Amino acid sequence: MERVIKIGLLGLGTVGSGVLNILDINHDEVTSRAGARIEVKKILVRDPAKQRPVNVDPQLLTVDPWEIIRDPEIEVIIELIGGTEAAHSYVEEALKEKKYVITANKDLMALAGGELLALARGMGRNIYYEASVGGGIPLIRPLKHSLGANKITRLMGIINGTTNYILTRMSLDKADFAVALRGAQEKGFAEQDPANDLEGRDAAYKLCILAGLAFNCRVGFDSVYVEGIDGLNLRDIFYAGELGFTVKLLAIGEELESGIALRVHPTLISSSHPLAGVLDENNALYLVGNAVGEVMFYGPGAGSMPTGSSVVADLIEVIRNINHQVENGVMETSFVEKRVVPMEQLSSAFYLRLQALDQPGVFAGLANAFADEAVSLDRVIQKRSAEGKAEIVLITHVVAEKNFNHALEKIKALPAIKKINSLFRVIEG
Ligand SMILES: NC(=O)c1ccc[n+]([C@@H]2O[C@H](COP(=O)([O-])OP(=O)(O)OC[C@H]3O[C@@H](n4cnc5c(N)ncnc54)[C@H](OP(=O)(O)O)[C@@H]3O)[C@@H](O)[C@H]2O)c1
Repeated sequence: MERVIKIGLLGLGTVGSGVLNILDINHDEVTSRAGARIEVKKILVRDPAKQRPVNVDPQLLTVDPWEIIRDPEIEVIIELIGGTEAAHSYVEEALKEKKYVITANKDLMALAGGELLALARGMGRNIYYEASVGGGIPLIRPLKHSLGANKITRLMGIINGTTNYILTRMSLDKADFAVALRGAQEKGFAEQDPANDLEGRDAAYKLCILAGLAFNCRVGFDSVYVEGIDGLNLRDIFYAGELGFTVKLLAIGEELESGIALRVHPTLISSSHPLAGVLDENNALYLVGNAVGEVMFYGPGAGSMPTGSSVVADLIEVIRNINHQVENGVMETSFVEKRVVPMEQLSSAFYLRLQALDQPGVFAGLANAFADEAVSLDRVIQKRSAEGKAEIVLITHVVAEKNFNHALEKIKALPAIKKINSLFRVIEG
């Protein structure tokens, strides 16, 4: 007799609709791969009267989460409501009810993943979260399984589609930040309140998840240095381009001898780097493993169907595990404590744009301030001068953050320096 697995969906928004859509259009493929027929028994929403982009039997909708979570017939709960409060308590309760849990919620997994995975393990269950980072791009499973033989030394990701869309439009269309942001909102890539994306927090949540898997440790959100792209100036994108660089919001994780270093910040990367070619809302993860070498994953980092694709793939795995009586599947074995190296102990090359009086001796003053702190300059360019002021752009060689910051303090104190306009880290090669 055909096996039927009953599931409960929490949320029927962008991702939830994609999941229902895929279960409908790929019904035969999903059923044969899973080895069971999937029946969506109930769906939690806030407003059952709302118009939905998918056909759904109104009888399936409920506003009562416990009707789903406490239903003994439901074996799998898919959490797609987002946020951390209600989602946390629903996932916790679902695990205590011995349900398998699938989620696309990076905030939840970054902030409470360790605790919830431990609870899952205790209950002989598991949490599957492929969709939480990179939307439709497989990232979690490759890090957990396919690359498990490597010592991963470095990962660099474009893991926020909204900011990548904005940076792409600024760079290719010469659109101002505000215009590019409006375009992202009109296309549905940016939320009405885009602060989490623009200020880098969304990317930092995702970096916590990826770095935890890559470096075999639990990574707290506080361990990540975060700078966003809010208010980025078009002129910097333009100058970066002239110097052979592209500006990207990168999430970077490294395992150094002294510990792990985690940061999210706008970065000038060489325009020949594979990440520089990742355009619009697409995402990519580039990483280096000591056995495999360089690997890059690329694709749609969000959206209804791409994200739904990852959720349904998790569902297929859960059902295979249920069918083969594998209780909690492959759990993370990664609970090693690792030292987090603070930002001031890292090294980087820097791009600096500043405004100075257009008079003799300014370059000498800058050169001395840098030389005092052993910061050597790679390129210095006077961009333009008007009304007695000159705009200067410079790029340093790789220096200790601490030395660069000391030099910057000295530069700010020089009478001829009127304004520090912008400052970015640079990755060459
Ligand atoms: N959108 C993407 O491309 C994407 C990509 C990767 C990961 N994710 C993650 O996937 C999750 C869902 O995102 P989404 O874009 O699908 O969100 P969404 O479009 O805002 O949908 C949220 C759904 O959850 C329901 N809901 C929210 N809070 C609820 C509550 N307290 N009680 C009952 N129902 C509640 C809403 O009900 P109503 O419809 O009745 O309002 C809606 O159906 C989030 O964690 C997000 O970070 C999204």
